[in-house]
Amino acid sequence: MLIAIPKVLDAAQLNALRQLLDQAGPAWVDGRVTAGYQGAAVKFNQQIDERSAVALQCQQIVLEALERHPRFISAALPNTLYPPMFNRYGEGMNFGAHVDGSVRIHPHSGRKLRTDISATLFLSESSSYDGGELQIEDSYGTHSVKLEAGDMVIYPATSLHQVTPITRGTRTACFFWVQSLVRDDGQRSTLFDMDNAIQKLNQTNADETARRSLIGCYHNLMRQWSET
Ligand code: NI
Repeated sequence: MLIAIPKVLDAAQLNALRQLLDQAGPAWVDGRVTAGYQGAAVKFNQQIDERSAVALQCQQIVLEALERHPRFISAALPNTLYPPMFNRYGEGMNFGAHVDGSVRIHPHSGRKLRTDISATLFLSESSSYDGGELQIEDSYGTHSVKLEAGDMVIYPATSLHQVTPITRGTRTACFFWVQSLVRDDGQRSTLFDMDNAIQKLNQTNADETARRSLIGCYHNLMRQWSET
């Protein structure tokens, strides 16, 4: 399921990130350094060197925001996050259709991480560039995503996706992967819907015993479906 998560970053966090990224100079490298065999042939962008000091500073801002974001936690049910990365596309750059690599080595812990979910957090105002749409294919068709700065989209990492060519301006974004506690996208979607319904019921005078029972069902499904 493709889920938009609005307002992951506030204006202050966005400004701090933009300042760091604007001044990153030589930490911007060719995006192909981290692309696998399939991706390298179609990837034309720049990204921040994962080992640079500026990458760590930027990651910290994003990770702190994600940890406090209930909709992200509810939708992704994160087990392990790949440290957020940062890319930019100038005019004429794009990233052709590809599926993200299934397993990555966590650069800090050295442990393997299964990429269940792909995430793109938009950092540029949508009016500041043309093109640069994230197009994601699923069984319902192709979805074109271009969100406001500070908003994020998460989608199953199994999806074929691309970033269309930029025709004006620069598109800067943050992207990362999540190994979820619940590997299956359908099960994760069910839990997300159920959690949303519970949150809504909690704001009403709905029967307390029934609500408690529903919350119990949520946790019992989590127990059945999650892996740590
Ligand atoms: Ni990708």
